[in-house]
Amino acid sequence: MTITFIGHGYVGLVTACVFADFGNKVWVIGHTKEKIERLKKGDPIIYEPGLKELLQKNLKENRIHFTLDYENAIPESDIVFIAVGTPSKKNGEASLDSVFEVAEKIGKHLKKGTTVVSCKSTVPMGTNNKLKALLFRVKPKNAEVFIASCPEFLREGNAIYDTLNPDRVIIGSDSKKATDALTELHRPINGKRVITDLASAELIKYTSNAMLATKISFANFISFYCEKTGADVETVLNAVGLDKRIGRIFMDPGVGYGGSCLPKDVRALIKMGHTLGIDTQFLDGVKSVNEQSRKNLLNKILKHTRDKTISIWGLTFKPNTDDIRDAPSVFVIQELLKHGYTISVYDLAGIANMRKIFADQLTYHVSPYEVVRNSSALVILTEWNDFKQIDLKKVKKLMRYPLIFDGRNIYEPKMMKEAGFSYFSVGRKPILK
Ligand code: UGA
Repeated sequence: MTITFIGHGYVGLVTACVFADFGNKVWVIGHTKEKIERLKKGDPIIYEPGLKELLQKNLKENRIHFTLDYENAIPESDIVFIAVGTPSKKNGEASLDSVFEVAEKIGKHLKKGTTVVSCKSTVPMGTNNKLKALLFRVKPKNAEVFIASCPEFLREGNAIYDTLNPDRVIIGSDSKKATDALTELHRPINGKRVITDLASAELIKYTSNAMLATKISFANFISFYCEKTGADVETVLNAVGLDKRIGRIFMDPGVGYGGSCLPKDVRALIKMGHTLGIDTQFLDGVKSVNEQSRKNLLNKILKHTRDKTISIWGLTFKPNTDDIRDAPSVFVIQELLKHGYTISVYDLAGIANMRKIFADQLTYHVSPYEVVRNSSALVILTEWNDFKQIDLKKVKKLMRYPLIFDGRNIYEPKMMKEAGFSYFSVGRKPILK
């Protein structure tokens, strides 16, 4: 098949490379010349394990093509995927400007014959019907177009694996032609198939991300009770999770969820609720606990640091990505700067993006050891594997005071006590030296 992706972010580029790798001819359309030139040279722009190799392999095989133009790609495509961003507007609503803008361009370039336009961008219920109307309005008369919603469930940091092995492939459409074409395209991909209507497909995506956010906020909510009563959150959640109806997965307490998806999609679902006249207190609570989780760590730092020179390990919203969108680190750093802290930071992939926000307000380091030199406290905000068995003796020697705030519970309190640190984590008794 010949397929086109509009957008080359985590979803667009990863999925495009995976389908190219199966032997399809794939076009990727972007709108920034400099980025398209980098992609053509095999630079994926984003950091995602394995993506550079996959991109370069398929460029070499001449199966993936990058362009700014719709002219060549759209007329020869069997399926066109919309995979552009739907960031939050100020009021929380998902911005659909890019989705409609690219849909109009797609429509105008459709050819005689049949094309399936499939929306991978996360969009509110009803959007695909609006896209359908738009495409019908702008397409040439002899072009036949069918619309489908094919939401994506890949996680940053695991994106290639998740694209090949999703738990489910959702195809929402009222057209058999679209469903058949997408079913055929997804044939080499694992996972259960769910064939459904457009609105259900749209809501499946929001429900998944809202449920994941709920699990995390629930774990964090329980951690507040632990901190007030001396109970241990890990013990509590491990025991509760043994109940197969509940499970333990995706309930790790910490500084809250971040990234470009969970926070944005919870906000958008709340906003949709308001429009639909639904009481959104439940989701308001999920969002509020997430905000409290960040503040909770911040308050511990403000209360227990002995002076205002501190260091941070981990800036990205999760490990194995360079993405800092809605990352807890951004909030914590902004607040600490307001309180007059001098901050040194270290991360394995997020430094370049962090510089764009904080410029010379922070000191950036390339070593997890150098960053802690002379600091009066270390704050851990991302659970990169590299921190888990680091030489803590060396860390302690370099620091002015042996004090750690761990927003991801990566160490055992007992071990930190033996190592001679004061140690504050989430939902567990602090170790005070
Ligand atoms: C999320 C979903 O997991 C994907 O299924 C979905 O496709 C994607 O959004 C999307 O909509 O595009 P992602 O944002 O990459 O994926 O990251 P997650 O792995 O979901 O983590 C989100 C945040 O939750 C991170 O900040 C992470 O640290 C936090 N988290 C996760 C916890 O605090 N506790 C946990 O137990 C799990």
